[in-house]
Amino acid sequence: TRPLRLALLGCGTVGAEVVRLLHEQAADLAARIGAPLEIAGIAVRRQGRDRGGLPVDPGVFTTDALGLIKRDDVDVVVEMVGGIEPARTWLVEALRAGKSVVTANKALLAEDGGTLHDAAAESGADLYYEASVAGAIPLLRPLRESLQGDTITRVTGIVNGTTNFILSAMDATGAGFAEALDEATELGYAEADPTADVEGFDAAAKAAILASLAFHTRVSAADVYREGITEVTAADVASAKAMGCTIKLLCIASRGPDSTGTESISVRVYPAMIPRSHPLASVGDAFNAVFVEAAAAGQLMFYGRGAGGSPTASAVLGDVVAVSRNRLAGVRTPSESSYAALPIRPMGEA
Ligand code: NDP
Ligand code: HSE
Repeated sequence: TRPLRLALLGCGTVGAEVVRLLHEQAADLAARIGAPLEIAGIAVRRQGRDRGGLPVDPGVFTTDALGLIKRDDVDVVVEMVGGIEPARTWLVEALRAGKSVVTANKALLAEDGGTLHDAAAESGADLYYEASVAGAIPLLRPLRESLQGDTITRVTGIVNGTTNFILSAMDATGAGFAEALDEATELGYAEADPTADVEGFDAAAKAAILASLAFHTRVSAADVYREGITEVTAADVASAKAMGCTIKLLCIASRGPDSTGTESISVRVYPAMIPRSHPLASVGDAFNAVFVEAAAAGQLMFYGRGAGGSPTASAVLGDVVAVSRNRLAGVRTPSESSYAALPIRPMGEA
């Protein structure tokens, strides 16, 4: 069987780990897919950068991402760069050309996921993005596929590892916010610019993706009520502790009748004080946890590592295997249904 050729976009915290795992697990992945995977090229910003002995030929690196995507021998485009542009242009180009796309880019999906879904639907290409929410935790596939026969009413979770790490450290050691943030950055949890994490933008993007999947509608980051943790002080954490509580940055997406009885959606992200007996209170470090409540299934809980190179690479590679199998079988997984025209409640309304 001919190899499936990958264009990797980005070789930072996540991309480097994907490259390492592709090398380490090459034989197993080939056996699972039914064809070997080959790296056609890796697009980066700084071509000459020391990549710490990654197991690839240095000749595969390029700064011409678009040129790499357009190559005829590329089957699957894996985007691990982040941000809105040029990632959106690249992925639309890839999807229109019928290439399968795997992306970890929650910011883009939350800002303009509709453009990607439309491009995928038009060309019949696969668009997978499991790594964009809650790192290693299999969460989007269950929402997108396994729970499609049910009605999801509420999704509640801790979906940002950096802020959970910071709040947990402040709670455990009394550390100050700045000290805890430095440690989260060193460990590769925080984005290059941690504003997105600590101001709640990252969690709001993930909340939008979760709400879109859970409620079959298109929710964007701008629809999400958002408060970050920059104003949470050591004194707030100590007061919560004295009351038998802890502070967590929660994302809450729910559907149901509003005050006028209209079925609608509310999506919020804010730091909340929760009792220590609550299951989310014990989610420490950079872990994530998400509760899903569905009419027939009842309560489901998803828990695991939500950030970092290796956990995120696990989710990316799971998607790579899925789209590669689809390509070999000549099929695609249709985009999730977004038929529901549920109104989104005004900011902050529970
Ligand atoms: P990094 O900042 O570590 O890496 C970004 C990579 O993109 C680098 O290799 C950089 O090149 C490359 N790059 C940046 N701009 C360009 C450009 N214009 N053209 C070509 N290449 C470019 O990011 P992460 O690995 O942390 O994150 C990647 C994606 O994964 C983001 O969407 C992020 O939100 C998402 N994600 C990250 C998680 C994490 O824990 N880190 C978890 C879940 C999702 P160079 O190396 O030359 O600088
Ligand atoms: N910066 C993000 C976090 C990475 O801390 O959760 C995972 O999406």
